[in-house]
Amino acid sequence: MGNETFSEGFDHRQKDRSPSAGTCPSLEAARDANRVWHGAVEILSNERIALQTYRLQFLCPPIARRITPGQFVMVRLPGSVDPLFGRALALYDLVRDQAGLAVGVQLVYRVVGRVTGILAQKAPGDRLEVWGPLGNGFPADPVPHLVMVAGGIGFTPFLALGQEALGRRQYGTPARSAPWAEKVSFCYGESTAAFLAPLDEFQQTGIEVHISTEDGSRGRQGLVTELIEPVVAQTGLPCRIVCCGPEPMMAATAQIARRLGLPCLVSLERPMACGLGVCFSCVVRVRDESGGWDYRRACAEGPIFDAHQIVWDTEESG
Ligand SMILES: Cc1cc2nc3c(=O)[nH]c(=O)nc-3n(C[C@H](O)[C@H](O)[C@H](O)COP(=O)(O)OP(=O)(O)OC[C@H]3O[C@@H](n4cnc5c(N)ncnc54)[C@H](O)[C@@H]3O)c2cc1C
Ligand code: FES
Repeated sequence: MGNETFSEGFDHRQKDRSPSAGTCPSLEAARDANRVWHGAVEILSNERIALQTYRLQFLCPPIARRITPGQFVMVRLPGSVDPLFGRALALYDLVRDQAGLAVGVQLVYRVVGRVTGILAQKAPGDRLEVWGPLGNGFPADPVPHLVMVAGGIGFTPFLALGQEALGRRQYGTPARSAPWAEKVSFCYGESTAAFLAPLDEFQQTGIEVHISTEDGSRGRQGLVTELIEPVVAQTGLPCRIVCCGPEPMMAATAQIARRLGLPCLVSLERPMACGLGVCFSCVVRVRDESGGWDYRRACAEGPIFDAHQIVWDTEESG
């Protein structure tokens, strides 16, 4: 891992959203948990796990020790200006050594465009430019029943989250306390079965898996949002819904949660250029206490937001 740096004192979760504050790192805020590591990493493996879907592992103890479920890293192709910007990829899981120590990061990506197309050609030993951990991540607040809802490649944050919630794995330094849920359900929808990721790790963890495909090739035929109500009703336990996927699917999930009176967190996949709170390319409209809304940076104040506070593109801005 040559040429590595920490962005000393750069608190990428700062709450001040003015452009001048965003471009002026706070030197006082150098708390270890918020430091962003930046450097070159070596790919350990890059294997196809489903149609157009790959799992990539790299060694990087400084990120692995601190990253928590729902956080992400930015990945860039080193020595290349095309494409110029990195891409955000969520933590899928950690690579652990024989003693169980976190030494690397696992990512899962779907080939949809430039960077993911090039990533799919990479082999063990090739290098990537990486910076992270980034974003707020999911809270580890205790809840009896955690219902995770994923559309397509939006499933990537949920293995780590489910493992932590059920106390099978710990993340972060200091390690976040776990378990924090009694039951974890996973509603996972794809357009067709060929895209479904292997689910044995989810099931071995004790996560209850419910599948839908739009063409009915596996699981229930239809949209993943149709799975939510029956899963919530299964137990009488108080629930929290967490969701990641295409925005119309997250907006629909938020509507269902609102109707059922349930808290709902969403992980927003906005295009990001810096991932550090500097460029404002990732802003999203979030309601404030005055009844209006304001822009928030998905990379710094998010990517996890209260779904009921988001002004979705499908609704009138308020
Ligand atoms: C916080 C965060 C976490 C993310 N985690 C993951 C992850 O774990 N795995 C992952 O694969 N991606 C993830 N993404 C999306 C990722 O950052 C890239 O946008 C995506 O991989 C496409 O990059 P690309 O260069 O291959 O495509 P581009 O060349 O940038 O885009 C090509 C085309 O694909 C479309 N496109 C872009 N993103 C998507 C998408 N997600 N699904 C379908 N079409 C798309 C674009 O609209 C465009 O038309 C995440 C994004 C955010 C903000
Ligand atoms: S401010 Fe640059 S990606 Fe969010």
